[in-house]
Amino acid sequence: MTQRRASVIYESMFGNTAAVAEAVADALRAADITVDLVPVSAAPRAAALAVDVVLLGAPTHAFTLSRARTREDAVRQGAPADRAATGLREWLADARIHPPSAPIAAAVFDTRSGSVRHLPGSAARKAARLARGAGFRPVLGAHSSYVDGIDGPLLEGELDRARAWATELAAQVLPRHSTT
Ligand SMILES: Cc1cc2nc3c(=O)[nH]c(=O)nc-3n(C[C@H](O)[C@H](O)[C@H](O)COP(=O)(O)O)c2cc1C
Repeated sequence: MTQRRASVIYESMFGNTAAVAEAVADALRAADITVDLVPVSAAPRAAALAVDVVLLGAPTHAFTLSRARTREDAVRQGAPADRAATGLREWLADARIHPPSAPIAAAVFDTRSGSVRHLPGSAARKAARLARGAGFRPVLGAHSSYVDGIDGPLLEGELDRARAWATELAAQVLPRHSTT
């Protein structure tokens, strides 16, 4: 059987989306998938990805993916300044590469504030739209994890929910009998 491969590319200002990304990567590895886990600032260009599926994660800022301005807001609220340099929106803007005949599957996840659950808007849904525009093939529903306030931590049970989502992704998108 061909080795199944995934990249988990994440943006995170306070570390919560990074923790979800690690949990997701662990769940994929537990399903015997080879995983690269990389912050978006160190991610390879989309054209260089040699994987079956890419998982894209980011915090929700102002109802959508972050921009430089919202990341600077996060820095003012205590996030490390070096994390403001780039984000998933910028990576996806640069990602138009795949021949339509063989698009790489893309699954999206985000983090959101648990105290404003009623508010619309999700970084992951925006990421899915941009990913489709860039030629990826969005798969599975977007997954949201909730944090306490702005800087977290993640609410209880969120890492388990994220692992369960990734396990479902592995079963649906990369079944063990896959020949890709
Ligand atoms: C500038 C800014 C705008 C935000 N806007 C929203 C929002 O619209 N909806 C929401 O649920 N959370 C919002 N949040 C909370 C973030 O989603 C939260 O900080 C993030 O999930 C934490 O993830 P991280 O630790 O990976 O940065 C906002 C946070 C910041 C800093």
